[in-house]
Amino acid sequence: MTPDTALVPPGTPAPDRRAVVRTSPLAPGSAADPLWYKDAVVYQLHVRTFADGNGDGIGDFAGLIARLGYIRRLGANAIWLLPFYESPLKDDGYDIAHYERIDPRYGTMDDFKRFLAEAHRLGLQVFTELIINHTSTAHPWFQASRRAPVGSPKRNYYVWSDSDRRYLGARVIFNDIEPSNWTWDPVAKAYYWHRFFHHQPDLNFDNPRVRRAVFKVMRFWLDLGVDGLRLDAIAHLYEREGTSCENLPETHEFLRAIRTEMDRRYAHRVLLAEVDQPPPIARTYFGAGAGDECHMAFQFPLMPRLFLALKREDAGPIVSIVKETDHLPESAQWAIFLRNHDELTISALTPEDRQLMFDLYAPEPRMRLNLGIRRRMAPLLDNDPSRMALAFSLLLSLPGSPVIYYGDEIGMGDNIWLNDRDGVRTPMQWTGTAGAGFSESDQPLTLPVIDDLIYGASTVNVEQQESDPSSMLWRVRRMVAARARSQAFGRGTIDFLTVTCGSVLACLRCYRDDTLLIIANLASTPQRCELMLPAEIADRTAHSLFNDDAVASAALAALSLAPFEFRWYRLVRPMAAPSSTSPASVQNSI
Ligand code: BGC
Repeated sequence: MTPDTALVPPGTPAPDRRAVVRTSPLAPGSAADPLWYKDAVVYQLHVRTFADGNGDGIGDFAGLIARLGYIRRLGANAIWLLPFYESPLKDDGYDIAHYERIDPRYGTMDDFKRFLAEAHRLGLQVFTELIINHTSTAHPWFQASRRAPVGSPKRNYYVWSDSDRRYLGARVIFNDIEPSNWTWDPVAKAYYWHRFFHHQPDLNFDNPRVRRAVFKVMRFWLDLGVDGLRLDAIAHLYEREGTSCENLPETHEFLRAIRTEMDRRYAHRVLLAEVDQPPPIARTYFGAGAGDECHMAFQFPLMPRLFLALKREDAGPIVSIVKETDHLPESAQWAIFLRNHDELTISALTPEDRQLMFDLYAPEPRMRLNLGIRRRMAPLLDNDPSRMALAFSLLLSLPGSPVIYYGDEIGMGDNIWLNDRDGVRTPMQWTGTAGAGFSESDQPLTLPVIDDLIYGASTVNVEQQESDPSSMLWRVRRMVAARARSQAFGRGTIDFLTVTCGSVLACLRCYRDDTLLIIANLASTPQRCELMLPAEIADRTAHSLFNDDAVASAALAALSLAPFEFRWYRLVRPMAAPSSTSPASVQNSI
């Protein structure tokens, strides 16, 4: 692709990012620190299923606003909203019918503005979705395109073909449902291209009008004051014969144009890439060494390996992938997650590891979907509180900014019998009442509340866990609070330490003068092992970040760990150490 002259005049130098920070005024509510996203703890939710404010059985902005305090009390400082734009909801809102309108089921634009102002007032930065790879077939652009003359700019908003035998190198992503990336349109009398569902035609990024229209959408939401944009399905923007139609140079060039535009006009805003690709490719979305594309990208390579490691009780898969995905450009950050609104995708694993994941985590065929597993975290981890707390400990202590999927903090379950991925998108369980405190409607809810004996709302709900200091909710809160005590979690380097047991992970996280020691036993059995501590920290005192306990670092060279035990320490230099340096065992009180 030649540089998009309509967007960036030729010869325009890449902006000096420090200068941009000085010249672009901060919008009200924007974070003061340009690297705020490195300290973010993000709470991901769907307006539709979080809280229903008007009693119609569908979650809405009014309900969400009323629950923002809960998210803040969890310790999150950012929210990621799943799509809330006008949509036929055939793909839960990822099928957009109008980019600049709120779906009326969730409220009005004024409600959205109130939400944004209130979130900012509480110190929550807001990520929304920029879904530009495709629209819904219901979008007016598609309706105009299918009727427009062949070769006209309107027709060329989408990718049309007389044959469905083009771009055969591109995989079919939703391969359980879609037989092909082409669908015949009887109105246009041609095939249109789609990487996802057939009702989601891909926009044609070779058309400069499309690129301009996408910039306008981006500016619309940034002008309103959103802090971050999740770039959905961003690897698939262009099509070229003889390629996989993923990660093409043209896509990266377009991302650089987006980043330039963002930096030019908006201070301290963030692009978050959704790219489910192997490590060497995933990291290219930060920009080739220059950090000139996305600020953040989801850590897809790590996520399934966390689950592999937990089930195999072996730290190896985590250590190797974290090493492989380390050393990012200065401004880049992984968004690390355990589960999200999609199936747990295993496409980036080897065929053997994929099979293992299916065998271990999806024994019933209905649990599988496409190349993934449609289950939530708690059922995946057998609803075992110790293993769930350990999983959260890894999420919150490995490099990156953690993203917590709503409901996982209370151990919500799933319903694999619902359509598509709806089983992991059920209403938030606030109370043990019939509508789970999500809605007071006596009509069927937007999705049914989980009602089984183990995970049903009467057993698993916020209200009950609030009153129990040993609940998962409180354990997660305490971990998030401990994380907030050190920027080394979000910004520090990582160095793995040699341990004599394969099931024990130990690492140092360092940022400026702050050094943390993180230890986790992935095994279901007690472990006694030796930890090789570097000489320079041997004289330090290890202070637990969870309580007031302190122990001489040297005493940690011989470790005794309970099943699934984890510890987070700050290593304090001798001068600053308080008097208690007893080598007594430090119990993890999380
Ligand atoms: C979203 C999915 C969605 C797909 C198509 C994804 O990457 O996370 O939920 O179905 O994009 O829009």
